[in-house]
This record gives sequence, C-alpha cells and structure tokens, in this order.
Amino acid sequence: MSRQSIGIIMNGVTGRMGYRQHLVRSLLAIREQGGVELPDGTVLWPEPLLVGRDPQRVRAIAERHGLDRWTTSLPEALAEPDTQVYFDAQLTHVREKAILAAIDSGKHVYTEKPTADSLDGALRLARAARDAGIVHGVVQDKLFLPGLLKLRRLIEGDFFGRILSVRIDFGYWVFEGDWQPAQRPSWNYRAEDGGGIVLDMFPHWRYVLEHLIAPVESIYSHAVTHIPSRWDEQGRQYDATADDSAFAILELAGGVTAQISSSWAVRVNREELVQVQVDGVRGSAVAGLRNCRVQDRSMTPRPIWNPDIPSPHRFLDQWAEVPDNIDFDNGFKAEWEMFLRHAYQGEQFPYDLVDGAKGVQLAQIALESGRTGQRLAVPALEV
Ligand SMILES: NC(=O)c1ccc[n+]([C@@H]2O[C@H](COP(=O)([O-])OP(=O)(O)OC[C@H]3O[C@@H](n4cnc5c(N)ncnc54)[C@H](O)[C@@H]3O)[C@@H](O)[C@H]2O)c1
Repeated sequence: MSRQSIGIIMNGVTGRMGYRQHLVRSLLAIREQGGVELPDGTVLWPEPLLVGRDPQRVRAIAERHGLDRWTTSLPEALAEPDTQVYFDAQLTHVREKAILAAIDSGKHVYTEKPTADSLDGALRLARAARDAGIVHGVVQDKLFLPGLLKLRRLIEGDFFGRILSVRIDFGYWVFEGDWQPAQRPSWNYRAEDGGGIVLDMFPHWRYVLEHLIAPVESIYSHAVTHIPSRWDEQGRQYDATADDSAFAILELAGGVTAQISSSWAVRVNREELVQVQVDGVRGSAVAGLRNCRVQDRSMTPRPIWNPDIPSPHRFLDQWAEVPDNIDFDNGFKAEWEMFLRHAYQGEQFPYDLVDGAKGVQLAQIALESGRTGQRLAVPALEV
C-alpha cells in the first residue's frame, strides 16, 4: 500500500461552509478514516494549506486542528509546488479571480457553487479550465444527500413509470437579525455582494433536476424581497437589496413539469427543510435531506371531495418509508472523495465547471424571467 499526499489549497476556510462542511466534515474526516483508498490499494492523503484574509482566524483554525500550513497570501499558496488542488469556498463574487489564478498556476480546481456571479464569468472559468486541461469540479452536495440518493434509487429501479411532475419546496425563516441573530451571513441579502436566493439555490435545483429527472427547457420565475431591511453581524441595520424568495415553474425535457418554491421568509410545515415530491403514473415519492417516502399506485387511496364530513383519511400515514439499506456518509465528504480520486488519476469529473455554469445560467434566466414577467427558454450552453 502506498500513501500519496495531495496538497489542497483551502480558500475561504474561515467561512461557514469552508470550515464546517469542507475542512472538518470532509478533509479532516477523510484523514481520520485513514485517507481515500483507490482500487489498486493506493491511499490518497489530503494535506490542507489554509488560506484566509484574517491571520488570527486562519492560524486559530490551523492550531485547533493540528495543521501547520496556512497563509493569508493566495499567490504564495499557489506557488507551493506540492499543492495540486485549489478549493474555493469564498464569497461568490470574489471567486472568479481566484479560480482563474489557480488555473493559471496549473492546479486542479474544486469549488463551491455558484461558480461565479454571472454566466459570462462562469463560462470564462469553464473555458479556462478546459483549455488548461486540468481536472475541475463543483460542489453538488444535494445529489449526495441520503434522501435524494434514495430518490435516485427509485428512479433507477423504475418505480415511477412515466414521471409527470416534480415539486420542490425549500425554505425556512431566516431571522432579520434585530431581536434574534440571523442564522445566515448578511451578504446573502445584499445583491451587490453576490447575495439572493435565486443565485444561491437555482444552481442546486438545476443539477438536481438535470441529474435526477431531466434537463430544464424553460422557466417562468417570480423573485421577491419579502423582508426589505435586516441587521448584520455587527448589529447594523442594512437594506436587503437581494431577493429572499422565488417561485418558479419549469418545463423539463420529456414533458415533465416542475414547480419550485424557495424562500427564507417562510415557516416550516413539512418534515424537512427541503422536500422534493415526484409524481409518476405508477407511484409517487417525497424525498427530503435524509428520508424518502413512497406511495405505490396499488396503495393509492381514493379520496372523495366532501367538505361536509371530517376526512376519513390520514393522508400522511399512507406513505411508506424507503429503507436506508446502506450507510450514508456526509454528502460533502462523499463528493470530496470522488473528486480526489478523479484529480489524482487525471480523469474529468462529471460535475465540472461546465455543469456549474449551467447552474449560473438557470439562475440568470430565472432573474430575467422575474424582471420581464416572461417564460424564457433555457438554451443548451455553448462552452
Ligand atoms: N453547497 C451548499 O449547500 C452551500 C451552502 C451555503 C453556501 N454555499 C456557498 O459557499 C460560499 C460561502 O458561503 P458561506 O455561507 O460559507 O459564507 P461565509 O460568509 O460564512 O464565508 C465566506 C468566506 O469568504 C471569505 N471572503 C473572501 N473574500 C471576502 C470578502 N471580500 N468579503 C467577505 N468574505 C470574504 C470569508 O473570509 C469567509 O471565509 C458561497 O459561494 C455560497 O454560495 C454553498
């Protein structure tokens, strides 16, 4: 068994996602389990080099986890010959410049979504990566969630027959920040800082729909800012200039209709923060982050509309839980392992910067649809 180190530049590691999901729950968890094993017995060993703007905070993270490599200078990190991968979990609107520099330095690139804050930017990244011949990947964590893995299993097992429609319901109340602190960073609510629920969530919806059901062909979307004023991390009031809710209807290839509600201004009355309902001729399923419930056509009740009597049905009890059958790992970690294998072996990653650009494209067209009030086609992306 040979152990191969992979040097990974981790930029944005002081942030919510960079620290918790990518450093602690992914790379450090991979080290705790002994690395990533390849079929030939080689073990890949991630060696993080932390990059951040605030030396105190980056050093504190490095010390907390017994890591000795950190810097506040991205050029310095990129110049290190034993780093092969650049990872970006920075704020969306500063990402493009950093990734272009990493591609220029010949690093493989793995990044959070959205890959850029405009389609032009996302395409620039996809083209630069393709021309440089590096391995590139985008975080598409929802595909690795247990609930959606069970949904994929149902689709691959032909549970649904012909799929008719998909309904995605996502959201929860994000506190305004005055009488209770907000549970998301304030930049998410400022358009000028790359915020907005459409740019944040539609890249997720695009890959979920395309990789599980069918590609998106058109969209009508209505984005709104329900809460116009919020309070930031320092307790200062600011104008929320970005959309915090969006309601969309999409047509998918093959005649499937999807409707998506995304909101940071709704209260949760469902089992999970996101639910994906798929209705097919032979059965239906409702998948969340962890669970997935089904109703086969043979088990479908026959309700009759009658407001004069209490319902004889307990509809939510009429669904069956899909069993786990396997141990599910953290989704971010599972995708990291997959990316590291691809990067080490020099193989193109399936969820690449072209796929990431399609997510930004859908967000951009959704915003345009909201501005014009029109249903818009989602054309094939030319890279
Ligand atoms: N995959 C997912 O489910 C998911 C979930 C949330 C966020 N994200 C994405 O992850 C990225 C980071 O989001 P987050 O919630 O961790 O944000 P965050 O505010 O917690 O972290 C942002 C990071 O960017 C760094 N940064 C670099 N330049 C900056 C600048 N000019 N101003 C402010 N910060 C700067 C910060 O130091 C920090 O490390 C975003 O692109 C977001 O879209 C993905």
